[in-house]
Order: sequence, then C-alpha cells, then structure tokens
Amino acid sequence: MIDIHCHLLPYVDDGANDLDEARLLLSSEAEQGVTEICLTPHLREGMFETPDEKIRFQFERISGIAGELGLTLRLSREYHVDGLFWEKLEAGEIIPVGRGVILTEFSSADDADTMARAVMRIKESGFVPLVAHVERYPAADADTVKTLRSLGAAIQVNADAVLGYDGRYVKKTVWEFIGERLVDVVASDAHGVDDRPVRMRECMTFIKKKAGDETAERLMLKNPGKIIKG
Ligand SMILES: [Fe+2]
Repeated sequence: MIDIHCHLLPYVDDGANDLDEARLLLSSEAEQGVTEICLTPHLREGMFETPDEKIRFQFERISGIAGELGLTLRLSREYHVDGLFWEKLEAGEIIPVGRGVILTEFSSADDADTMARAVMRIKESGFVPLVAHVERYPAADADTVKTLRSLGAAIQVNADAVLGYDGRYVKKTVWEFIGERLVDVVASDAHGVDDRPVRMRECMTFIKKKAGDETAERLMLKNPGKIIKG
C-alpha cells in the first residue's frame, strides 16, 4: 500500500509528538504492508504555521528510520484553504504530492460554491487538488463531490471513516461515495499511536471484503501510486 496523507512527522503540528512516536508509527505502517508514505504536515493559518524549512529538517531526521524499515518517504503538506495557502500558491512555494497534486483541506464551514471556486483556482494554477477527507465537510454531499470531480479535483477519504471509527453516518456516506466511484484515494491521516493510529491493513482487508480486490487496490495502491509518480 501507499499512504499519501498522514501526520507522522514529529515536532511540527498535532501529529507525532516526538521521534519515538514517529518511529512507532513508521513501524506500524511497514508492518501493515505500506511501502511508500507521503508525509503531509498541516499548514493552516493561525493554527499550524510551521515553516517549510523546519518541516524539511524533521524530514531529514526521520528519513534514516524509514530507510531501516524499508519505507520510501516523500514530503508534502496538507494545505488548509485560507489566506496563507493562496499566498504560498501565488509565490510558487507549494510542496506538492508527486509533481502536481495539492492535498487540500477545506473548513467545515465552507459551502459547495466556495469549494468549487477553490478547486477551479487551484486547477488554473496548474495543480490538481486532492480533497482531504471529503467526509468531513457538511457541504460535500454526493452532488457536490461529483461537481468537484468534474472540475478536476481528486477525492480522498480516511481509513477510519471507511472502517466506521468516525461513526455510522460517516461510514454510510463514505461507502455510498465508494459505490458511486467518487473516491480516488483512501489514506490513514494517522496522527499518533493513540489518536488516529495507522489502520491501513485493516482498511485494505475491509474494502476487499466489501467491494472486492480491484477496488481496494485501486484506492490504496494504484491511484496513490499514480499521484506520487505525477
Ligand atoms: Fe490530515
């Protein structure tokens, strides 16, 4: 599997607290059959404004651990759509997933029009927005998700939502999206050993059981692979 949304990088946001927790989370990914990981620390105005240099410094620190575990690590960020994000985009300072995909997080207060306009603006800048955990946004019903996809966005959901850890309603919604082929990627969005741990293996097994091998491999291996390869 390939996990392209997670918060395993230590000391930079609400993800892994320290090097020990990062090591445990990386081990967990490797044990579960993940071979490539894209680390996506938050960038969010007023909340997580850790500069890219600090992110890169921590990335270098944990690259050795990942190598020992046989993991390939990549670096990107989860960009919350706000003023700071648009500044970064205008300045050409985005760290994409692969060559041109931006892991894009909306506010739960954003309406469908706001999301659609943001998708169009990101596309006009030459990037493809990968909408992070689409199940979180009240405005993102199936029609909105279809619209975002028709505008060129890709759609990610969290493993926890697929498995039902975020509640029955969220699980039902996510499975409707998967059934309508509106989901492109499932990722862990793991934050810690206790807080949203890595559940990639459990999720892969569950999707295989419910929707078949092809769907599970498309969402957790093939599509994330295409994205990181550009
Ligand atoms: Fe995240």
